[in-house]
This record gives sequence, structure tokens and C-alpha cells, in this order.
Amino acid sequence: MTDKLPCKLGVLVSGGGTNLQAIIDCIEAGELNAEICCVISNKADAYALTRATYHAIPVVIHEDKGFSDRQSYDAVIAEILREYCVELVVLAGFMRIVSKIMIDAFPNAIMNIHPALLPAFPGLHAQQQALNYGVRFTGCTVHFVDCGTDTGPIILQAVVPVEQGDTVDSLSERILREEHRALPAAIKLYADGKLMVEGRHVRILT
Ligand code: GRF
Repeated sequence: MTDKLPCKLGVLVSGGGTNLQAIIDCIEAGELNAEICCVISNKADAYALTRATYHAIPVVIHEDKGFSDRQSYDAVIAEILREYCVELVVLAGFMRIVSKIMIDAFPNAIMNIHPALLPAFPGLHAQQQALNYGVRFTGCTVHFVDCGTDTGPIILQAVVPVEQGDTVDSLSERILREEHRALPAAIKLYADGKLMVEGRHVRILT
């Protein structure tokens, strides 16, 4: 048991929220010394919001319609996260690129989960990209977010095989199972103070 205060998380979502659920489950199982202070979504119909509400986690819907630029949208998100005293921002299926305002507000404190072995297959439809390329293995990557797209320092990766006859759905499901292990594990390393960012590299302290 640790006497360290739980790491305060802010989780940003846009969709089904299975990665959010994996974080919730780890916390509730006593495997992750963290608390989710708020869940923020750019989509009012994200099922992730239902998951959060079921677990009495505050939710904020900040729809991205009508914002002229990314910075003004992100400025609101950053303010909400500060109000909840968030220490680590987790992009759990958040389908927007965060801007410099967010990076500056949370330096080396924004994590993203991507369904490919970066730097392979960045951006959208990574699973389809892997199938189209014909790779034998793909996987997922947890990384700190920088101003690029899926280009920040890599924290953890997990490999999955691409099977004969795989579809996007079957491959995505196999990758998701690893995502649900890798993301909480990366958050745990951060919460336990075991991650040190040195330029492009992340050192995991033992
Ligand atoms: C995951 O595949 C994640 O890698 C990607 O978006 C998907 C989100 O899934 N960024 P969920 O909303 O966590 O179920």
C-alpha cells in the first residue's frame, strides 16, 4: 500500500470508452494509485460518458462545433482540467489533435494510446493501414503527446500478430485487448514517478 496521494487524471474521450473502462477497472481493483477527476468529451453521444457517469465520475461535454480554431477550443479544455487540478491528461480514444495550448499547459503530462506500433501507421485508421501494408505484426503504442500527430516520446508498446483473414474489426479487437493492458500500465508508471523524459526518449526507472 502506498502513502502517495492518488495521481489526478483527466481523461479525454470521443467514443465507446473501453480504454476509459480499463483505467476505471484498474483503479477500482486497487492496481492503480490514481483518481479520475473528470472525463471530457467533444461528442455528446460518446458512450464513454455513460461509463463515467455509472462510476460517479464528473463529465464535461465540450463539443467542437462552432470553434474557429483549435487553440480556442483547447483553451477551454485546459481550463477545465486545471479547475479539476488534473496532473496527467489521458487521451483515451480522443479523436482530436491537441494544440500547443494544451502541450504548454501539461508538458510531458499528456498521454495518448494509438492502435499501431509507432512510428508505423500514424493518424487515422491505423488498423486498416496495417492490413493494407500486409505487416505480420502490429500492436499499440502509449506515448507522451507533443505538437505532432502521434509523434511524441514512446512510453510502452505491445505487439499483436496479424492473422490470415483478419478484418479491421478482428484486428482492432485484438489490439484493443493489449491497449487495455498497456494504457493503465503506462499511467501506473507515471503515477509511481517512474517515467523520466529525456528528449525523444522515456526512461523507465526501476
Ligand atoms: C482505440 O483503438 C484507441 O487506440 C484509439 O481509439 C480507440 C478508442 O477506443 N485512439 P475506446 O473509445 O477507448 O473504446
